[in-house]
Amino acid sequence: MAKTSFLSRYRTPKLPVPRQGDTALVTGATSGIGQATAKELVKRQFRVIGTSRNPDSDASRANTPDGVELIPLDLGDPDSISAVPDELEKLGAGPVTVLVNNAGESQNGPLEELPRDALERLFQVNVIGHVQLTQVLLPQMRDARRGRIVFVGSMLGSFPLAYRGSYGASKAAIKAFAFSARREVSRFGIGVSVMEPGAINTGLSERRTIYIDDGGHYADEFQTMLTHLNDNEATGISAEQVATEILKAVGDKRPRPLYATGSSSHLAFPAARLLPRDTMGGIIAAKHGL
Ligand SMILES: NC(=O)c1ccc[n+]([C@@H]2O[C@H](COP(=O)([O-])OP(=O)(O)OC[C@H]3O[C@@H](n4cnc5c(N)ncnc54)[C@H](OP(=O)(O)O)[C@@H]3O)[C@@H](O)[C@H]2O)c1
Repeated sequence: MAKTSFLSRYRTPKLPVPRQGDTALVTGATSGIGQATAKELVKRQFRVIGTSRNPDSDASRANTPDGVELIPLDLGDPDSISAVPDELEKLGAGPVTVLVNNAGESQNGPLEELPRDALERLFQVNVIGHVQLTQVLLPQMRDARRGRIVFVGSMLGSFPLAYRGSYGASKAAIKAFAFSARREVSRFGIGVSVMEPGAINTGLSERRTIYIDDGGHYADEFQTMLTHLNDNEATGISAEQVATEILKAVGDKRPRPLYATGSSSHLAFPAARLLPRDTMGGIIAAKHGL
């Protein structure tokens, strides 16, 4: 009997790789990482469907890469998510065998001052919305016996940072969903991965949602953190570099559970295995001026 090593016994089996001409769906394809990923998928001969909350606006049209077809999707609205299969049918597109769950809100604020409705919206958009969209599209992948699902998380899902608790928690939550689903669906030929970008220069700083009492107890430290966060983003790697990593999760025969890029991810993850958690937390805080 052939010997199997300890490591190979437990690893994910080889999975079918999506084919040229397959349909790929990228949420939030009008900007940043989603836009770059949609563009790269077109280059690699996929039929690419992107999403936007306002697909018919001039801005969305102008920002959608050539070759990408846009459908409406608001992850904050469960009905909009349920309507995705109908929208795909209208275009004669599908089955979707590549799903990049990318769109997201970048929320900031101290735990004490985060309004409940803002928290609910964040978890609807960043977590529940993408879980529902995945539920809606999984039957198509199961029928096709192949598929790749990439959840775009954040390194803050692995390395929590002060004043980014809600955002980091939403990214940690989606990672736990992804890691669990990975085992559930691999027997149908479907791979599930998480992409954790560090600081990426997408202009996201201008679109952050911020909850802070300006004269309050946390205002000074929050501002220090935010200034460093925005500087890190402005000097971060490009969305195209993240797209290249996402395409690895789509094309690898054995897609890894986690891909990461930016913010010295190649050092941060090994360091986290060696250093005490508290020290690692201190390093992440110091990187943000705290
Ligand atoms: N940039 C970074 O430094 C960074 C770092 C780590 C992780 N990330 C993560 O990477 C992903 C993309 O970030 P990005 O910087 O590329 O963001 P971005 O440039 O702000 O783009 C966000 C995209 O999501 C769409 N969107 C926003 N809210 C939505 C909603 N409620 N429903 C559906 N679509 C929505 C927007 O499209 P419409 O306005 O057309 O609807 C837009 O195309 C996010 O999940 C983010 O958390 C980013």
